[in-house]
Amino acid sequence: MQTPRYEYSRAGIQERIDYLLELSLPFGLVVRYAVKANPFPEIISMMHGAGIHFDASSSYEATELLAQGVPGERISLSSQQSAHNLEALLRQGVLFVATSLKQLRLFVATPGRPASVGVRINPDMGHGHNKRTSTGGTSASFGIWHEYIPEVLAAAKEAGLTIDRLHLHIGSGADPSVWGSVMDRALEVVARFPDVTSLDLGGGFKVHRYGTEVEADMVSIATIFSEKLRAFETQTGRALRLEIEPGTYFVAHAGVLVATIDDIVDTGETGHIFLRLNTGMNDFLRSAIYGAQHRIEVMNDSAETGEYVVVGHNCESGDLFTPVPGNPEEIAPRTLRMASIGDEVRIYDTGAYCASMRTRGYNSYPDAHEYMVA
Ligand SMILES: Cc1ncc(COP(=O)(O)O)c(C=O)c1O
Repeated sequence: MQTPRYEYSRAGIQERIDYLLELSLPFGLVVRYAVKANPFPEIISMMHGAGIHFDASSSYEATELLAQGVPGERISLSSQQSAHNLEALLRQGVLFVATSLKQLRLFVATPGRPASVGVRINPDMGHGHNKRTSTGGTSASFGIWHEYIPEVLAAAKEAGLTIDRLHLHIGSGADPSVWGSVMDRALEVVARFPDVTSLDLGGGFKVHRYGTEVEADMVSIATIFSEKLRAFETQTGRALRLEIEPGTYFVAHAGVLVATIDDIVDTGETGHIFLRLNTGMNDFLRSAIYGAQHRIEVMNDSAETGEYVVVGHNCESGDLFTPVPGNPEEIAPRTLRMASIGDEVRIYDTGAYCASMRTRGYNSYPDAHEYMVA
């Protein structure tokens, strides 16, 4: 079969769908798929068929979901850029989350808009495995800074609007106690919005891709969330529905990028041996921008190993599959099976933010094809 290609495991995705749908929260749970992680149409239809809801990060994603038959009521839109077609999306039932005061004003001014809306607040707390994936705190432009909550409430009051959904996404992590602190902070913010009935904590539930990375245990996290939501209900009488919108957790493990070693070059005795693949940042960018680590396997039977730097085919020194963890500026050779030109290479856990986040078209290389496999 042709390389480069992405293969997505239907069974792997189904397992995650079943697992997440089994979680139980005291006052209800809505599980949304963060479609930006991987909008491959067969993944969307699997999610939709299983009753999963959706988180869209742009009005274009929301429009695409509608075109694929997802009802608007199942889609929540929280985007950095103002929607290009807000009126049409609202007419079709898409749930809107304003992520800035300007977006709130645009919503208020939209003819035929609903009487209620969600807002995304940046509560000054951020967790991510690196600075680029933390979406809260003073360095993040996501959401309305918490000090502007009085302005948000005043604007809603003036427009006769009910703010019934609160959205706070503050980055990724695996530690249940960190998620406990996230919920504590979220509930402090909820307390300031008397009409909120639904709290959306975003995605960011970590998976183990390589080395010492720790996978989130969603059952433990849900247990902590449940305790905190029950305590809040006891104190305030407010029973909050929880929403989560994982992308990575749903699909990361289900993807494999399959490539071929096009060439092997070296920089002499004091240098490195480079495996040049027939794919690169135009198909897979995470390592080049985050220093993200993925397991890589050379598909042959060799019992011998070599120390290799695995690089992409783009004319760019940053086009790298084996950076130092978290530091895309530096290379970290990997011990892999002794490789030859023409060997297949598999890069694992590439189902999320890989095909969807590539530098498409760079060097005019064609896209790796995507396939659903059993
Ligand atoms: C608003 C929102 N929801 C959900 C997600 C999904 O996060 P992840 O794929 O890490 O679960 C993100 C990621 O940045 C996000 O910004």
